[in-house]
Amino acid sequence: MIPRSILLVLVSVVALNMVSSEVYRLPNNIKPIRYYLTFEPQLNLTKPYKYIPYYGSVTMELKILENTRNITFNKKRLEIDESSIKVLNKAGKELKVIATSSNAVEEMYTVQMKRELIKNKTYTLEINNFHNNLSHDGLGFFRAYYRLHNEETGEAESRLLAATHFQPAGARIAFPCFDEPAIKAKFIVSLIRKKGFNSVSNEALESTKDLGDGRFKDTFKETPLMSTYILAFAVSDYEFKSLGKFRILAKSSAIKNNETDFALDTSIKTLKALEEYTGVNFVIDKMDQFAVPDSYFRYYAMENWGLVIYGESHLLRSKTHDSADDYQRTTLMISHEFGHQWFGNLVTPAWWDYMWMSESFAAYFQYHTADVVRFEFTVLTLK
Ligand SMILES: *[C@@H]1O[C@H](CO)[C@@H](O)[C@H](O)[C@H]1NC(C)=O
Ligand SMILES: *[C@@H]1O[C@H](CO)[C@@H](O)[C@H](O)[C@H]1NC(C)=O
Ligand SMILES: *[C@@H]1O[C@H](CO)[C@@H](O)[C@H](O)[C@H]1NC(C)=O
Ligand SMILES: *[C@@H]1O[C@H](CO)[C@@H](O)[C@H](O)[C@H]1NC(C)=O
Ligand SMILES: *[C@@H]1O[C@H](CO)[C@@H](O)[C@H](O)[C@H]1NC(C)=O
Ligand SMILES: [Zn+2]
Repeated sequence: MIPRSILLVLVSVVALNMVSSEVYRLPNNIKPIRYYLTFEPQLNLTKPYKYIPYYGSVTMELKILENTRNITFNKKRLEIDESSIKVLNKAGKELKVIATSSNAVEEMYTVQMKRELIKNKTYTLEINNFHNNLSHDGLGFFRAYYRLHNEETGEAESRLLAATHFQPAGARIAFPCFDEPAIKAKFIVSLIRKKGFNSVSNEALESTKDLGDGRFKDTFKETPLMSTYILAFAVSDYEFKSLGKFRILAKSSAIKNNETDFALDTSIKTLKALEEYTGVNFVIDKMDQFAVPDSYFRYYAMENWGLVIYGESHLLRSKTHDSADDYQRTTLMISHEFGHQWFGNLVTPAWWDYMWMSESFAAYFQYHTADVVRFEFTVLTLK
């Protein structure tokens, strides 16, 4: 992550210290193995709506680490339809839930079972209906608008998109989950979108199903084992430019003006330099980068595995408008976020107290890799 200001860093550190209190930690008696997630944001191409709902469902495969009657996970703001909860044993038999409870301070939700869930056994928890509004504060699953000049009508139009920012504790705003960095699992994400929109997530698209009525369900490949805070997805009417496994997604005007070209070229070289330096190949088959309108994105950039999200002014570069400093900044952003693909994403601090480790490695590689890739920018020369 690259925060927008030092103040935000201080605020985050204070906030992180608050959540590091033992009270707000999950009991660590259940380990999620795999999440099957579906989201359907109610996007509309043009008209700006104040509240835009989204609907979701999740199926979690859980392994029990200590016998327990309680399944406790994180949830914030989100509404869960209690009647849509089902717990099944490995044979597919439904087990009796006797109560559910929510704790807004601890940001936790508990499903209480009639009988104990047994250590080492696996169970399935289904929550077939949860919903929320796309957030307005750039955390969790949020909405953003941008202006686009419509060439047919000659008018400027407002366009809507939905994207995510989860670090440090935003995943629990978007969906029910075990939202701690050390609790890694695999994710299979599906996004339901209308015609005219497309979707992206950490992994490559596996299939698209036509649901009729103008809706499509995109399902992405299973992710590697990963933390919830680097999960990401977006639904937009963006276009993209690609080269090999690299894509940059942005508003169509930026694509048309070749504003993605510098970042695309830099990305390819940066990932290669990091693979060579670490001797560890990038584990996801593709690398997408997504440009959110700046005023809707809280940070400069976020290193989601295989889907790095930026405030657009830090990713898109215009030959006619931008300075050498702008080009240097984009290079440093890409090398920082790509450094995290190894330091943070592949190897992850067990708790937020140790976040300085992944951030300092990313800060180191930010300069080291930028110097390898764009030697002419002399980023290592003291000014
Ligand atoms: C989007 O706009 C169309 C046309 O105005 C309207 O019929 C539809 O209900 C809108 N959808 C949402 C989710 O607001
Ligand atoms: C299970 O959860 C309920 C509701 O949060 C709580 O009252 C109870 O103490 C929990 N039981 C255990 C053993 O943690
Ligand atoms: C659970 O699995 C662990 C490791 O596989 C094993 O050592 C332990 O005996 C098992 N416990 C029970 C109660 O089956
Ligand atoms: C979404 O916004 C509407 C309109 O203000 C509100 O009634 C509803 O409770 C919100 N939903 C959630 C889950 O917060
Ligand atoms: C964008 O790049 C293409 C291919 O290099 C070129 O043909 C086109 O004129 C460029 N467009 C702009 C607006 O610079
Ligand atoms: Zn960072």
